[in-house]
Amino acid sequence: MCGIVGATGVNQVLPSLLKGLEKLEYRGYDSAGVYVNGGKDGDFLVREKGRVSRLKAATENKHITGTAGIAHTRWATHGGVSVENAHPHMSEDGRFYLVHNGVIENFDELRDNYLQGVKLQSETDTEIAVQLIDKFSKEDNLSTFDALRKMISLLDDNSAYGFLLMDNETPDLMYAAKKKSPLLIGVSDQANVVTSDAAAMLDITQDFIELMDGEVAIIDKEKVTLFDVQGKQIERESFHLDIDASETDKGVYPYYMLKEIDEQVIVAHTLSQHYFDDDANVQNIDDEIIDAIKASDRLYIVAAGTSYHAGLVGKRYFEKWTGIPTEVHISSEFAYDQPLLSQRPFFIFLSQSGETADSREVLDNVVKQGYPSLTIANVMNSTLTREATFALPLLAGPEIAVASTKAYTAQIIVEAILAHAVGNSEVDLKNELAKAAVEMQVIIDQKDKFKIIAEQALKNQSSAFYIGRGLDAAVAVEAALKLKEISYIQTEGFAAGELKHGTISLIEEGTPVLGLVTQSKTAGLVRGEIAQVSARGANTVIIASKSLAKANDAYVLPDVDELLMPLLTVIPAQLIAYYATLDRGLDVDRPRNLAKSVTVQ
Ligand code: M6R
Repeated sequence: MCGIVGATGVNQVLPSLLKGLEKLEYRGYDSAGVYVNGGKDGDFLVREKGRVSRLKAATENKHITGTAGIAHTRWATHGGVSVENAHPHMSEDGRFYLVHNGVIENFDELRDNYLQGVKLQSETDTEIAVQLIDKFSKEDNLSTFDALRKMISLLDDNSAYGFLLMDNETPDLMYAAKKKSPLLIGVSDQANVVTSDAAAMLDITQDFIELMDGEVAIIDKEKVTLFDVQGKQIERESFHLDIDASETDKGVYPYYMLKEIDEQVIVAHTLSQHYFDDDANVQNIDDEIIDAIKASDRLYIVAAGTSYHAGLVGKRYFEKWTGIPTEVHISSEFAYDQPLLSQRPFFIFLSQSGETADSREVLDNVVKQGYPSLTIANVMNSTLTREATFALPLLAGPEIAVASTKAYTAQIIVEAILAHAVGNSEVDLKNELAKAAVEMQVIIDQKDKFKIIAEQALKNQSSAFYIGRGLDAAVAVEAALKLKEISYIQTEGFAAGELKHGTISLIEEGTPVLGLVTQSKTAGLVRGEIAQVSARGANTVIIASKSLAKANDAYVLPDVDELLMPLLTVIPAQLIAYYATLDRGLDVDRPRNLAKSVTVQ
């Protein structure tokens, strides 16, 4: 959470920083701020509550000039949403400027022990860090680099940080430090940059150096110098990132979410091409991964949010095709309440970002216990992919909207391919996935139908239910998360049979209940449950597969292999959520209180 960009050596740096912040808004959008060192024109510090667009407006007519600066978009942790709490934070004498992504757990102790005489301007942990740097540089006569390192040495083990610091006495220099929060240094002949996510700085460079935990870097416009935890200079090659800057643009779409829903078909094709050869044999999954899974006696899928929901679907594939019992766990629970493990566990982490702090906490524990693990993620080179024993890519391209869509379907596809590869299943999976991709496109091409369903079923409603059984129950929880997180309609995803054990008392005249009917074994039961809520006044909307459909169903899905139906069933749910949110005049891509990459626990 929180996005950081900085650049040095850019002729008029402000527009690059603001553009970078716009790309990072998915990481938080409570407030935004920028610092530009204007040389003889002095220091420019502008901070605003709310979105980057407000910051941009506030910088107009201020004649901000300068070739180096740092900027930040915030997801509030310590201290409310206010201009004072927005980053960059400044030292008391106006010399140092700092942006931070992460949490300093012992900040109050540091404040009480070291900063009694300092008049703090904010309630943030970050301001403590910049005031400490100032104090150590003055009182201990330390260089900025040493003062930064001394401040870092005082942070407790649980603290997480990506810091980017500027000292107005050395206008071209930036200092970066990292632990647990991602930070990349971008290099080019003209300018060097620092960013939480490469996508923010692709206009300047596609070559990046990764900063590792505990390291510090000094960046000027000509060179980058890296130091390890002990302060010893180290070398690291840059890597080239093959991302087209246009992939991170909305193009003709009004919202990223709609673009990403549409992209699901192409992602399915990309995955098929990557993971299958011409003879429909699985490729690009190392034998070591397959052997490690075969050697295990139980699989533990660990993830959060939508990725957890994809795990609920994947469990069926692993159990059916590999015969290995599979458990699915919410990472924030598993981290501090680890269940009794089997003799030979194998861990599978699912994540779009690869940076989710709750999942990282579990992986840390898994690594310490010496168990093998695999991360399936969209962002390769992320912490979860680096720290697991193995990693596989989702190849979904940048997912920018906070509501995850294409990462979910990609996760389901990769889980299916992996389970198929391990289990040598009889299914012609390549062919079945190709059919599913064709039908996904058919559904996506019928957007208007979901717009109508959203208007008819959800207008002016404050609560709703998605229900189903088996794989439909797994999709129901994802469908409910999609709808509630962006439209703010309180929605529960429910195993349909469980309703009568209590929750059915919430059904009133007109309560929208969306029933998913795609699994032949339970279709009759779910229809029975839909009838029960309908008898109690619910406004029922049935989404059924063609072979199980009945007259008056609201939408009929094409038939594909039942196990792959979640790839189809979720699309109406994504589009209904999208249109219900549009109808309410809300920002589809940036729901309140959320951030795309949840890097705090
Ligand atoms: O990056 P991850 O997949 O690890 O993120 C996990 C969740 O934070 C994420 O799926 C979240 O639930 C989405 N915003 C839901 O749309």
